[in-house]
Amino acid sequence: MSIGGDLVLSVRNLDVKFYTYAGVVHAVSNVSFDVYKGEIVALVGETGCGKSVTTKAITRLIDPPGRIEGGKAYFRRRNGEVVDLLSLSDEEIRDIRGNEIAYVFQDPTSALDP
Ligand SMILES: Nc1ncnc2c1ncn2[C@@H]1O[C@H](COP(=O)(O)OP(=O)(O)OP(=O)(O)O)[C@@H](O)[C@H]1O
Ligand SMILES: [Mg+2]
Repeated sequence: MSIGGDLVLSVRNLDVKFYTYAGVVHAVSNVSFDVYKGEIVALVGETGCGKSVTTKAITRLIDPPGRIEGGKAYFRRRNGEVVDLLSLSDEEIRDIRGNEIAYVFQDPTSALDP
C-alpha cells in the first residue's frame, strides 16, 4: 500500500460495534479522515458520537465486547513503511504504540504530569 508522502495517517471506512447484553451498539460507522504531516486534526461532536471509540480503535485499545468490524488505518512509520494499524499483530502494534503513536486519555490529570 502506498499513501502520499505528506500523509501520516489515513483512516478509511472505520466501523466499530459493541456487543452488549442489552444489544448491539454501532458506535462508529464508516468513518474516514486523513492526517497530514505537521497538521493538528480535531474530531468534534456531541457526547457519545464516537470520538473516543474512533481514536481508541486506531491505537487498538478497543476491548471486548467492542469489536473493530471493518476499515483500514494506514499509518506511515518513522522508517517510512506504511502499515495498516488495524491488521497488525498485537506484538507489532505494541511496538508502535507509545513509540510512534500515543493515546492521551480524557482525564488529563491521570494521563499527564500535572
Ligand atoms: N464499552 C462500551 N460498551 C458499550 N457501548 C460503548 C462502550 N464504549 C463506548 N460505547 C458507546 O459508543 C458510542 C461512542 O462513545 P464514545 O465514547 O466514542 O463517545 P465520545 O464522542 O468520545 O463522547 P464524549 O464527548 O462524551 O467523550 C456511545 O454510544 C457509547 O455509549
Ligand atoms: Mg470521548
